Formats: sequence, structure tokens, C-alpha cells
Amino acid sequence: MQRYPYVITISSEKGGVGKTTLATNLAIYLKALAEDLPVTIFSLDNHFTIDKMFAIKGQNPSGDIADLLRGAPGADLVHTGQYGVGYIPSSLALDEIRESVKGSMIMTRLLSLSGIAGILIIDTRPELNILTQNALYASDRVIIPVKDMPSLENCRNIFDLFDKRGLDKKSLTIIPCLVDARIKYHGPFKDHKSLLRAFAINRGYRCLDGYISKSPKVESLNTNPEGKIYPILTHARGTDVYSQYARLAKNILEEYRLAEDPRAKLYHQWLLAEEERKKESFEVRLSRLKKGCILCDGQGSREVAGGFSFYYEASDGGACGFLEDRCCSGFLLEYLYDARKQLEDDDPLLLMFREAARESVFAMRPVTANGETAVEVHRFTMDGNLVMKKTHTLKEFDGNSFARSRNGMYSFLSETLGETPGRMRDAFLLIHPANPQKPESILFEENYKRLLRTMQQVSQLL
Ligand SMILES: Nc1ncnc2c1ncn2[C@@H]1O[C@H](COP(=O)(O)OP(=O)(O)O)[C@@H](O)[C@H]1O
Ligand SMILES: [Mg+2]
Repeated sequence: MQRYPYVITISSEKGGVGKTTLATNLAIYLKALAEDLPVTIFSLDNHFTIDKMFAIKGQNPSGDIADLLRGAPGADLVHTGQYGVGYIPSSLALDEIRESVKGSMIMTRLLSLSGIAGILIIDTRPELNILTQNALYASDRVIIPVKDMPSLENCRNIFDLFDKRGLDKKSLTIIPCLVDARIKYHGPFKDHKSLLRAFAINRGYRCLDGYISKSPKVESLNTNPEGKIYPILTHARGTDVYSQYARLAKNILEEYRLAEDPRAKLYHQWLLAEEERKKESFEVRLSRLKKGCILCDGQGSREVAGGFSFYYEASDGGACGFLEDRCCSGFLLEYLYDARKQLEDDDPLLLMFREAARESVFAMRPVTANGETAVEVHRFTMDGNLVMKKTHTLKEFDGNSFARSRNGMYSFLSETLGETPGRMRDAFLLIHPANPQKPESILFEENYKRLLRTMQQVSQLL
């Protein structure tokens, strides 16, 4: 069965508010409270606090958080570390990777496919960069530690980000941190934490129950002759912070247990449904294709004809299909460059055009003026710039009454844009190169979307 993580991100644009301390110690407390619950942690910052705290001596872990972002299966990167907490090693390559992370739902997708179970805690850098945004959107719960007014003011950026994207802000919660218990005020808000909480609620921010005090003991946990970082759970017994963390972890555990499907699972279900939808749309597009190459009716030998190398579709969706390379190139040459109808297969002009046509898009549009029907043949670059245009009168037959043959363009347009005999619909035909090895790939979701965009661009130019 596929497993999904419940994701908690600790985030704030301010440094030194206690994010890393909170992320690491929360992991340890959660694991202590629920031995059977997998708890995993990783950091999107470039310090190695997590590694220093959780790596087991001689462990020599392979893979790191950069590998996750490059697409490696998440569960394979998790190493069981100290205190039973799983960790994905940190990486110095994140700055580099950040450049290539374009979307903000990448982490959501990676975590939904990661196979990581239980609770996953993400520690972030004190900035709202694209990696932090990715973590925020992937989270079931975001905890924003605030220690003073400036850090509270700063939260606005996270809330605004969610507003801008139209996301539900109920996952965002604030917790007063590094609260100095010695500070007392006159008036309704007696102390530091009540004041911060009141300001937060006033701004419409949700606050977690509880807070974390400032404690010299906690501050000293990362300064010792051994160069270690000690956990609050084992090394700060008897302090307020010790029990505050216990309370916080209990609340979070309860929330986790009551939570419905985590975002990662919902996203995975959506991905699967989306796959299914894409497959169905592809099948529908396949079923609409006209059989064979309607230029030659499949008469050309497939080797000489070069296989299906072009795709055509009417702008109103009324007809679509593939054309063979040789037929289509010869046909286009005839109408764009007035080349002889029957060129030898090794004619240099034909060979050159067959090559060049793969970098072009063509459009054919029937037009009627003074009772006469003509066809405009256009050649565009792949990005929709007009290269050339030719207009031909459209007649049903070539030759004279003794030796007449049906005109190729007339037949082609009648079959694709014909409404009633002799009448064409008000539409045009787009001809687009297709991959001869796998012509149907042009009907894959992303390729087909691109084709429709080109169609739209061309339509504006005609
Ligand atoms: N409850 C606390 N009491 C006192 N010092 C703390 C407490 N929590 C964290 N610190 C100290 O504050 C500093 C910043 O904490 P850190 O967790 O690294 O913040 P951030 O990740 O937000 O930059 C560290 O020196 C840490 O030891
Ligand atoms: Mg930090």
C-alpha cells in the first residue's frame, strides 16, 4: 500500500527565531511520544544541524535532500538516526538546485510519491525562496515561530502568499517562541506571549496552543566541548521549555491522529485522476483520426513515403489525421513554390524541402471573393511567424475536358473542410510536423496543448 507523509514545515523569514531548534526537538519529542510512528526530518537550509544531531557515528549515509529534489524516491533517502528519528541528509547543492526549481508544487508531487510515512518535518531557510514556498504548499501544518513584533510583522508575507494563490490558510499557525518570562507589562496583556498572541489574533492569524520560553539552558545545548547539539528532551529536564515542548508535541500528535487524508495523499489521488483523464482525452483524439494519408490514400509505399510525418487538424476540430512525409512535402512544394507536381524522390529541391518543412507549420484557408473560391497557403516558423503566403484559385478539376483529373488541393480541402459538395466551412487547416517514429505522440496532452496554442496564434494571423 502506498504510504504518505503528514508534512509539518517550520518557517519564518526571520533567522534566529528558533526554527531549527523547534524542528529538531519536535521530531525527537514526537518519536518519544509515539514509538511506532515514523518521524522524519530534513532541512532546506545549508547548515548541517540536522546531520549533526541525528547522524549515527559511522553511518555514512548515501543520498541527500538535493537528490530528493532531483527526483530520487524519498523513502530511499531516509536514514534511521539517533533517537529513532529518520533524516534525509542535508546538502550544499541546494542553491544550485533552486535555480532549476521552476514550479511551486514540485515538493508536493515529490512527497506524494515519496513513500515516506508518518510525520515529516521540514526545516527551512529564513527566506521565502522557491524551496520554502514548495515546502509551504506541501504542508498539512505550517508552524511559524515569532519572537517579537518584527518577526510577527514578517509573517504577513507567508499569509499574503497563500492569499495570492487562493490557498486555504488554515494550515498556517503561529507560536510565540523565545518568550522572555521576565518581561511584564501593565494593562490587559501582562506579558510578552500574551501580547504577541493578541497581535497575531488581531491580524487574523491562528495561534497554536502554548508557547516556548527563552531559556539559558536551551541556549547552551549547542555549545559544549564535544561540539554536539543536545536535545531538550534529554538535556534540559526540569526547565519550562522541556514541558512546553512536551505539550506542543502532544497537541501536534493529537492533531495528526485526528487529521483526515494528508495533502500528499490527496495530491497523489489527483495525479492519478489527471493521468486517467489525459489517457482518455488521448484515446478520444486517436479515435477522431482519419485513416491513412488522405493525400495519397495510402497508395505510396510506406518506405518511400517516409511514414506519417505531418499531422493536420481543421481549426474547428472537424477533421484531423496524419500525412505521409513524401506526399505532404511534395504537395506543399507544389502549392508554395510552384514546383512540378511529380518530382523524383531524390530531387534536391524535394530533399531540401522535406528537411526544412520539419521546422515549419503550414495553414490552408479557403476564401471566396467575387464568387470564386481560392485557397491561401501559409508557411510559418514553429513559433508562429509568417514566412510566406501564396494564393491559388481553387478548381475542382485540372486539365481540359478531354484529360481532366481531380485537383489535389480541392480533394484535400473537401475532405477536411467540406460542408456540402462545393462548399467549405469557415475554418482553416493546420499542418504540423509529427515524429515519424511515433506520430501519435503529437496527441499527448502537453504536445497537443502546444499544437492548439500554435493553432490559436495562426488563427490570429490569418
Ligand atoms: N527556547 C530557547 N531558549 C533559548 N535559546 C534558544 C531557544 N530556542 C532556540 N534558541 C537558540 O536561539 C538561536 C537560534 O535558534 P535556531 O533554532 O537556530 O533559530 P533559526 O533556525 O530560526 O535561525 C540558537 O542559538 C538556539 O540555541
Ligand atoms: Mg535554522
